Amino acid sequence: MKVLVINGPNLNMLGIREKNIYGKESYKSICDNLQEVSKNLGLEIEIKQSNIEGEIINYIQEALGSFDGIVINPGAYTHYSIAIYDALKAVNLPTVEVHLSNIHSREEFRRVSVTAPACIGQICGFGAYGYTMALMALKENNV
Ligand code: DQA
Repeated sequence: MKVLVINGPNLNMLGIREKNIYGKESYKSICDNLQEVSKNLGLEIEIKQSNIEGEIINYIQEALGSFDGIVINPGAYTHYSIAIYDALKAVNLPTVEVHLSNIHSREEFRRVSVTAPACIGQICGFGAYGYTMALMALKENNV
């Protein structure tokens, strides 16, 4: 069971950016921990990060045939990237959207996710633990 974890713009800045919102843990530490978690869950994961919309779309397209599911935090693209929505619809792989922060309790513009309707579900507000929850959800979904 292989899962592709995709992180969008500015998520490589975790541990540095707005720590009061996103926490103190570094991006590398979150990724290392997720690799450990995935082993315990019996899942194989690959983690990608890009600040570039087109690269994220390429990752999604390339997942077809190589991965059984996707966990994606599209960062700010969540709120306006129809192209990422289209890519997720195109590959039609079970996908869980993750946000560290509770996007529904923040600015008005963050409350809309244009990408979530292409996913089986969305997890937000639980910090980096959301990625673990997403992997568990995909496993339960019998990916
Ligand atoms: C985020 C929420 C987005 O609104 C924001 O643009 C991010 C991070 C989150 O994980 O909480 O970059 O996706």
